Order: sequence, then C-alpha cells, then structure tokens
Amino acid sequence: MKINAVTLDAVGGPVQVEEVDLEQPHEGEVLVKMGASGVCHSDQHSITGQHPADLPCVLGHEGAGEVVAVGLGVSRVKVGDHIALNWQPNCGNCFYCDRSEHALCREVTKTVWSGYMADGTSRISRDGKPLLHYSGVSTWADHMVVDQACCEVIPDEVPYEVAAIIGCAVATGVGAAIYRGQVSPDHRVVVVGAGGVGLSAIMGASMAGAKQIIAVDQSPEKELIARELGATDFILSSDSDVEQVLEMTESRGADVVIEAIGIPRLQQIWLDGVRPGGKLVLVGVPSVEDDSTFGSANLIRMQKTITGSYFSTTDTGKAIRDLCEAYLKGLLPIDRLISRRVRINEIQDALNWMLTGKEGRIVITFD
Ligand SMILES: NC(=O)c1ccc[n+]([C@@H]2O[C@H](COP(=O)([O-])OP(=O)(O)OC[C@H]3O[C@@H](n4cnc5c(N)ncnc54)[C@H](O)[C@@H]3O)[C@@H](O)[C@H]2O)c1
Ligand SMILES: [Zn+2]
Ligand SMILES: [Zn+2]
Repeated sequence: MKINAVTLDAVGGPVQVEEVDLEQPHEGEVLVKMGASGVCHSDQHSITGQHPADLPCVLGHEGAGEVVAVGLGVSRVKVGDHIALNWQPNCGNCFYCDRSEHALCREVTKTVWSGYMADGTSRISRDGKPLLHYSGVSTWADHMVVDQACCEVIPDEVPYEVAAIIGCAVATGVGAAIYRGQVSPDHRVVVVGAGGVGLSAIMGASMAGAKQIIAVDQSPEKELIARELGATDFILSSDSDVEQVLEMTESRGADVVIEAIGIPRLQQIWLDGVRPGGKLVLVGVPSVEDDSTFGSANLIRMQKTITGSYFSTTDTGKAIRDLCEAYLKGLLPIDRLISRRVRINEIQDALNWMLTGKEGRIVITFD
C-alpha cells in the first residue's frame, strides 16, 4: 500500500514528507493506522546526528492508533484494538527484567532497534529500495507495520494524541520523577527544562505530592504551562539559577533535581543545586561525544547521587497502561501538555516550533 511518511536520508536533513510503499504485516507483525504521533526532541537529535540513526529511515517514535491488520501468529492484539506504540519493549524474563530493571533489557530491542523487522527485512520501501524502521515504530506515517511486541492495548476512551505522548515524553518524565527520583511528599524538586519531558516530570512530581516543584526554563512562555501542570515556582534561566534555588530551599538545595534538556554544562552545575544526600536525575541526553565532569570529592562528602533515567525506567508496557489509567482517573492532566496539533506535511514547522522552546508537546494528527 501507499503511505505518507516523514523520511530522513542524511544527517542534517532536511526531512521530507513523501509517498512511500508499505508491505502488509508478516508473521508476528501488526499494521497500525496511526491516530496521532508526538514530536520529541530525540527525533530532532537524530536529524542533527546528535543521536545517530540508521538511514534512510521513516522517523517518529511516539504514536498511537488502531490495529487494522495482523500477520500470522499475532496474539497480543486483534484488528480494531486501540494501541499505543512502545519503542522499548522488554522480554520480561532476563537478568534485568528479573530485577525490575526493564529499561536495561535488550533482548527484544536488539531486533526492534535494528531498523529491520525480525526476519532482517524492512516493510517500508521507496522506489524498490528499503527504508529503515526508526526505533522500530516509525510513527511519523499515516500507517506503519510494527512488531507485535511494540503494541500496547489501551482503553478506547484514551484519545490517540494522549496515548501517543504517553509513549515517550510522559512515561519518561513521570518515570524520572517517581522511579529514579523517588519523589515523595516532603520533597523539594527542581525540573530543569520544561519541554515535553520536563513538563511530564513536573506532572509526575506533582502526582507524587512533592511540596515544592521549581521549574527552570529559558523560555518565559513556559511559566504558565509549568504552573498548570504542578510547578509551585518558576525560574527564568540566567546565570544565577542554582543560587536562586539555594535561596528557595533554606540554603540546602533540592532533594531531587531532574535535568531534562541534555546540556553537559547544565548537568554539571546542577549538582550544586542538589542538597547533601539528594539526587541528580539525568534525563536529557547529550551527544555521545560530550562529557560532563563532576567533582567527586564533593560528591562523596555530600553523599549525593547522580543517576541516569531511561524512558519509563520500568516495564514500559505496564507504564503505558498505568499512565492511561491515571489519565482516565484525572490524576495526570496529560492533554494539557499538548500545545499544538499539526498535519504530517507541517512536520518541519512543528520541529521549528519545538526549537523555539515555547511549546509543550506538538502532535501530528491523522484522519
Ligand atoms: N532519557 C530518556 O529516555 C529520554 C526520552 C525522551 C527524550 N529524552 C531527551 O530529553 C530531552 C528533552 O526532550 P523534550 O522532547 O522535552 O525537548 P523539548 O524541546 O520539548 O524541551 C526542551 C526544553 O528545554 C528548554 N531549554 C533548552 N535549552 C535551555 C537552556 N540552556 N536553559 C534552560 N532551558 C533550556 C527549552 O526552552 C524547552 O522548554 C532531549 O535531550 C531528549 O533527547 C530523553
Ligand atoms: Zn522521545
Ligand atoms: Zn528482559
């Protein structure tokens, strides 16, 4: 079948919206009619080469839609199911999964992230030449074939645009706050960077009942949305952000600081904004070529923890189901995170808008 998709041929772009070919699902695979797809900064990192992707590919990794066909042997979903796409499925049964460290399981993702389906071929092609499946889900397309392992059934009442962003930004931010940050009601929390991921961390900290949540961003437009999602304070970035946090936290620093941008300089300076005994949670991902340097003597004497936080940090399928439930119960105002809806042919505008730093999450909607 012919589909409309966003392709990337070379590092640096440009991305193109074009008609390409999609094969029907093979054994164990599912054809999804996309309902909505989020625009994440990680896609932009792949366009710039900061996070290298295998090319040429169809981009996008936050998505939700309806199952319209299944290959032989598919048992996880059936035609008509509403699903969110999960770019990090796990096996449930390895060294890491046994220890509830599902974010570290590579048993399924070693295939899913290869750019090809399990049989080593691609379902997407252009002029007879294969295009690769970005993150195994390639959600910037009106239809896509995915491995059934990437499909998580969601309640029909959850809008596709909400389920789509649960499938990366929301699960990542909430996971960073709740699981890696272990935010609790007596905590003072700082979230550096109020984009899709940072705003989700604010929502997660708020759901955990944190008594103070300080959002930090360079964009003044972010204050309103950060406060709506649970921030109690907002700092417009300057050279004195850490000093301001010390003043706001009885000179101790925050119990938990979550860096959700991915800038090494910020990762470094924010260790000083963490109180003795507190945690620095790194979520934003810099280039693999960039180093962050931390003074270890101070880290040791102050018993601080620096931890990485990847996607939901837990079983992502379960996280997607739990977050859908929390949304339906009114515990997480995920729809308020969506600042703009675009059509697929406006993808470059969407990326440019994201880069202004003024947006919450932008979603592509499909008919
Ligand atoms: N750890 C994970 O599993 C995971 C998952 C998804 C995304 N990410 C990463 O998280 C990061 C954020 O992604 P996003 O989609 O939320 O991005 P985004 O573009 O939506 O948000 C970034 C925010 O940071 C702000 N910002 C940028 N530079 C700043 C600076 N110098 N000082 C203060 N504020 C600044 C912007 O104004 C914007 O509000 C990216 O690095 C992305 O790759 C990590
Ligand atoms: Zn993402
Ligand atoms: Zn596993």
